[in-house]
Amino acid sequence: MKLLVTGGAGFIGANFLHYWFANHPSDEVYCLDAMTYAANRRSIEPLMDKPNFHFVKGDVADTTVVYRLFEEAGFDWVVHFAAESHVDRSIEDPSAFLRTNVIGTSVLLEAAKRFGVRRFHQVSTDEVYGDWPFESTDAFVETSPLKPSNPYAASKASADLLVLSYHRTYGLPVTISRCSNNYGPYQYPEKLIPAMIYHAINNETLPVYGSGQNVRDWLYVEDHCRAIDVILQRGVEGEVYNIGTREELTNLEVIEAILTQLGKPQSLIKHVTDRPGHDRRYATNADKLKALGWEAQHRFEEAFPATVQWYIDHPDYWE
Ligand SMILES: NC(=O)c1ccc[n+]([C@@H]2O[C@H](COP(=O)([O-])OP(=O)(O)OC[C@H]3O[C@@H](n4cnc5c(N)ncnc54)[C@H](O)[C@@H]3O)[C@@H](O)[C@H]2O)c1
Repeated sequence: MKLLVTGGAGFIGANFLHYWFANHPSDEVYCLDAMTYAANRRSIEPLMDKPNFHFVKGDVADTTVVYRLFEEAGFDWVVHFAAESHVDRSIEDPSAFLRTNVIGTSVLLEAAKRFGVRRFHQVSTDEVYGDWPFESTDAFVETSPLKPSNPYAASKASADLLVLSYHRTYGLPVTISRCSNNYGPYQYPEKLIPAMIYHAINNETLPVYGSGQNVRDWLYVEDHCRAIDVILQRGVEGEVYNIGTREELTNLEVIEAILTQLGKPQSLIKHVTDRPGHDRRYATNADKLKALGWEAQHRFEEAFPATVQWYIDHPDYWE
């Protein structure tokens, strides 16, 4: 099996590459990554010596690079992670999000159509559905309307629609997964969990948007990787699958857990002006994926402390 993983030097992409080699060691795997600020070569350094791993530095929105790679390699499967992924940055300046997340996806789709693939898997997010009110107990299903709240989520929703259009119009064999918030090793320390660990270790204040009551459904990153594997093996072409566990916690609860584990005072928490358009509560229903045989293997109470410990043990990685 020949596999292209885009964005493999980022947080989830790197975890996916490690997962893939642990479970499919003889596959031929290519990683295409532009090595933006969010990438870290160290995350995939242990794979670099493998004869069946090929790292290509390049931009998914660059047709010359992408077409050449597809033509030369001849991929069976494409798993498309590469994206601009930080909501705050998208609010500051959406242009890179439109280029990478929308144009980049369209370039990859066109290459997949021209050169042929057995599956194009789009890694999307539950943020495309928008949010629920704080008091709600509902969960989005795959047919829920797309109502993105910010330019990041809107760019991901746009990419999803392009992917589905390539299935309908050209018969491209596609699948899409929409996952909830991930935690685990190798995450760039601008995101909530590594950022808060970093501040706490350094005895700095921990800035919390608004009341901190925003609810996220937290999934251990390896369970996300396994879900994509299940969708590649058993998912139905043209279908969308939600990935989530309904392990719902407020941002404040996550931050308090970090401070408790590090033995730091809760007084380090400082509430700051809320992010504009800040989504209140995310929740998705993953029954469709569970019907394919997927079940999360990690619970927050065990995998979260292990994640915090990973950042404590790897200061060289993220400092
Ligand atoms: N982090 C989460 O909790 C989460 C949840 C659901 C879905 N997702 C989705 O998963 C994917 C990966 O997210 P992440 O958190 O690992 O992101 P990340 O920001 O950590 O990594 C993104 C990677 O993509 C690369 N990249 C960016 N622009 C590129 C371009 N133009 N060409 C090639 N490579 C480029 C970066 O260099 C980086 O290695 C994204 O598509 C994101 O929308 C993330």
